[in-house]
Amino acid sequence: VPLTVAVAGASGYAAAELFRLLSVHPDVTEVRAYSRRPEAVPLPGHVQVRPYGDLFAEGADVVFLSLPADAARAAAKELVASGRVVIDLSGGHRLPEARYRAVYGDAESEGAGQAVYGLTEWFRDELKGQRLVANPGCYATAMALLLLPLAAEGLIPDFAVADGISGHSGAGRAEKGRHLLAEASEDVSPYRLTGHPHAAEVEEVVGARAGKAFRLHFTPHLAPLSRGLVTTIHLPLDLAPERLAALYQERYHGSPFVQVLPPGQDPRTRHVLGTNVVELAVAVDRERGFAVLTAALDNLGKGAAGQAIQNMNVLLGLPEERGLLLPTFAV
Ligand SMILES: NC(=O)c1ccc[n+]([C@@H]2O[C@H](COP(=O)([O-])OP(=O)(O)OC[C@H]3O[C@@H](n4cnc5c(N)ncnc54)[C@H](OP(=O)(O)O)[C@@H]3O)[C@@H](O)[C@H]2O)c1
Repeated sequence: VPLTVAVAGASGYAAAELFRLLSVHPDVTEVRAYSRRPEAVPLPGHVQVRPYGDLFAEGADVVFLSLPADAARAAAKELVASGRVVIDLSGGHRLPEARYRAVYGDAESEGAGQAVYGLTEWFRDELKGQRLVANPGCYATAMALLLLPLAAEGLIPDFAVADGISGHSGAGRAEKGRHLLAEASEDVSPYRLTGHPHAAEVEEVVGARAGKAFRLHFTPHLAPLSRGLVTTIHLPLDLAPERLAALYQERYHGSPFVQVLPPGQDPRTRHVLGTNVVELAVAVDRERGFAVLTAALDNLGKGAAGQAIQNMNVLLGLPEERGLLLPTFAV
């Protein structure tokens, strides 16, 4: 199927990764970029850049919104009403209305929880034929993939604690200050001790699957990387390590981008750089009755543009891995 796709927010980081990945997608014949300052955006040759306002008048088979949440919500409303298929990379449609207002501080929240949550591995059936997809947050993707197998088996506790470490592209191109090389190099630091919006997302999706309230305390850290993240979750669980490992192997068997590592191997950002792959590892400290669940992904890959394309594939009935089977780094 020859597809025309549109990308809004062309000068941003997630859009840049969409342009890179879409250039090798066999079904995508035309990529249109929309920017509020088209003259200022240097883009690869296969992408034509147009003024942002033209997005609403021009047709496209799929529209990727790579914008801040409030701008994405306003755009999605108009695009969906005029029959377009929209994949929103922002947090604008990931949470139910009241929670969206509380977490993102946006007064306009109508229909916030009405999109399908695009964590592909868990919502394949719901994605087919959808018009509006809420692409998950980068940390939320990693944490939900780690917690949902336990939630689905009735093994999830009421509460878990998680830490994350990510590179600086997670903040977007507009952010400066501590994200500039002079301040970011040789520096590792926590940056939002409580209240990261991705924790709310994970509580919603895991709680819904478990059929009970679930709480996650999450603290992210910044490391001197441009891209990539690791998250590690600790929770009380008394289960044989082999049983826990088998649960994840079985659940993600047939999911081309989720690699459950054998015991003794650890997830690494370097292994997933530039790809749509997530590496997972799980272990149990039986003496203390704790499980440790850990994952690595590329925040611009599986954490944003890669998963958005994976969702487009499923939504349109294409093979899930179409255009996304990129080689990984071995060293
Ligand atoms: N970076 C990540 O790792 C990551 C991962 C998952 C999800 N996300 C989400 O994806 C979205 C894009 O992230 P990003 O990192 O690419 O951000 P970014 O680098 O800041 O890019 C966002 C782009 O949106 C456009 N924009 C900004 N304000 C706008 C407005 N009021 N109206 C219309 N367009 C506006 C700008 O593009 P123009 O100037 O060209 O118009 C801007 O470059 C965000 O919602 C982010 O939370 C990011």
